[in-house]
Amino acid sequence: MTALSVRELTKTYTLRSGLKFSTLQAVKGVDFDLTPGRTVALVGQSGSGKSTIAKLIAQLERPTSGTITLDGAPIGRRGAALARYRDEVQMVFQDPFASLNPYHSIGHHIERPLLLHGKATRSTVREKVLELLSRVNLTPAEDYVDRKPHELSGGQRQRVAIARALAPGPSILIADEPVSMLDVSVRLGVLNLLARLQREENLAMLYITHDLATARHFSDEILVMYRGDVVEQGPADDVILRPQAEFTRQLLVAAPEPGTNPRFLAEAKRRGVPMPDHLAPSEDTP
Ligand SMILES: Nc1ncnc2c1ncn2[C@@H]1O[C@H](COP(=O)(O)OP(=O)(O)OP(=O)(O)O)[C@@H](O)[C@H]1O
Ligand SMILES: [Mg+2]
Repeated sequence: MTALSVRELTKTYTLRSGLKFSTLQAVKGVDFDLTPGRTVALVGQSGSGKSTIAKLIAQLERPTSGTITLDGAPIGRRGAALARYRDEVQMVFQDPFASLNPYHSIGHHIERPLLLHGKATRSTVREKVLELLSRVNLTPAEDYVDRKPHELSGGQRQRVAIARALAPGPSILIADEPVSMLDVSVRLGVLNLLARLQREENLAMLYITHDLATARHFSDEILVMYRGDVVEQGPADDVILRPQAEFTRQLLVAAPEPGTNPRFLAEAKRRGVPMPDHLAPSEDTP
């Protein structure tokens, strides 16, 4: 069982404008735990510090203060300890167009982490690649493996990015707005896929989003961020149906989708409608 704990996590950026320096507190003393089989959603408006937290966990940035621990031990920042960390903690980013190299085949993108993390040998790697493509519903996998990214749709590319993230066999998955750049019609399919994979692999997941409806539907706990602070944190239903912080209420009122409106959701639930129609395509929608 692998759990990632974040305590008092803080990131301050120094900004320079001409000769003047100023500081920006992107993340201020944030605490949460990612545990197997559970999804924590991070919601908040643009610039509230969500991606900074993802980058700190991915070790693309270093915290100004605070700790990130894996099973109670400080995370490895170099050498073999860093390699082990990368086995355990994987990311899916927002932009499936930027995250795949246009010159390499789909198969290549998944082969590399399998070989790099010692999950396959030269002789078994193709079979493993096909297996992973099938797991993300790119089937028949033989039809996708030799294609180039530009021959795939945004949703299909994001499935490749998910397969690549699963390749090292992680126990923790960080998904930073994994569907916000995708066509609305395929978003829920990709989220359903992530939810299934999470169940099957018992993953600990951090789901970063602007969308309160999917945060509620796909996560166990919600953290609401406002300008670097967590202003509300609790079980998903409590945060959406009984928001305590003024900012959470504002977010709920401002939510553009009807499915995000708590009253609408409560009504839908009472009538036994699990989700609004437009939010209910299957996992296989291409
Ligand atoms: N490398 C950097 N240098 C300076 N400031 C930065 C840097 N990265 C992020 N910031 C600032 O930190 C704050 C938080 O940014 P962050 O990207 O974490 O927000 P976010 O919640 O992910 O927003 P969005 O919803 O738009 O993705 C913003 O004010 C941003 O401008
Ligand atoms: Mg962001």
